[in-house]
Amino acid sequence: MDWRRYRVSVPEGKSGLWSVRHAHVSHVQARSHNARAEDGALNERMASMMVGEKPEPVRVVGAGSYTALVCMDENFVERCWMSDQRPEVEEHREFFERARGHVLVHGLGLGMCAAAAARKRSVRSVLVVERSPDVLKLVGPSLRRLSKIQIVQGDAYRWAFRKRAYWDVVWHDIWPTLDPKNVEEMDELEARFARHCAWQGSWQRGWCERRLAKIRVIEWCREKRESLSTKEMFAQTREVYLAEIARIESVRPKCCVHNSQSRRAAPATRVVRA
Ligand SMILES: C[S@@+](CC[C@H](N)C(=O)[O-])C[C@H]1O[C@@H](n2cnc3c(N)ncnc32)[C@H](O)[C@@H]1O
Repeated sequence: MDWRRYRVSVPEGKSGLWSVRHAHVSHVQARSHNARAEDGALNERMASMMVGEKPEPVRVVGAGSYTALVCMDENFVERCWMSDQRPEVEEHREFFERARGHVLVHGLGLGMCAAAAARKRSVRSVLVVERSPDVLKLVGPSLRRLSKIQIVQGDAYRWAFRKRAYWDVVWHDIWPTLDPKNVEEMDELEARFARHCAWQGSWQRGWCERRLAKIRVIEWCREKRESLSTKEMFAQTREVYLAEIARIESVRPKCCVHNSQSRRAAPATRVVRA
């Protein structure tokens, strides 16, 4: 996948608490960012080693110019919600590949997903639902030339769509950070759209689920540290991990199993406009 193809072209601007910024990352900045990311990933490495899994890839950035969508939070701290750096682009790969027919995207962000989908010949329409009027104002105009895209303001959990609305692909990306707590919200959203699409996915769901299971393993180690030796504990961690993954999968609403593998594969054209 050539991630550069997915870079966005959104002008700088500010609206309310949101801004779009163009930033240049020098080689030195990239190196120091990557070193910090490697350090931060030590816990993750440790946990992966304990459960016998491959460590999650570290989000490494390269030097270059990027576009970022930033929002100031209630503590006046600026948080980057989205950028077109390589790791963020690659985390949407599944969506880019699956997009076809009529597509629904929750979360406009920098419009990267919407634009990538609209550029595919196999995609007929892209409906984007975005909660923030500021993001719409900042990013919406840069997508105007892509006529397949329609953007509406609304909350992914609440916006009203027709009872018979149906999309070929639905992609949920409304979270600012990778957090295992996102899984509950993913379940809620995916349950809401289960009967309205042939396939749906949520940004980095697999990562969040694996992280949840690793957290459970760490808790289990804490509980057992007095009754089991380190060797005994290590011998059982993979089992505990796999049991936790199985539990997460069993409580995941059935509808959240990607629908393309389930009962019906919908024809690309079967859509009722929202
Ligand atoms: C990480 S960004 C999405 C990035 C996007 N995938 C892209 O291609 O650039 C998340 C976006 O979701 C929006 N958002 C957050 N909560 C939302 C909700 N409940 N409903 C709709 N949009 C929401 C945010 O305002 C933000 O624009």
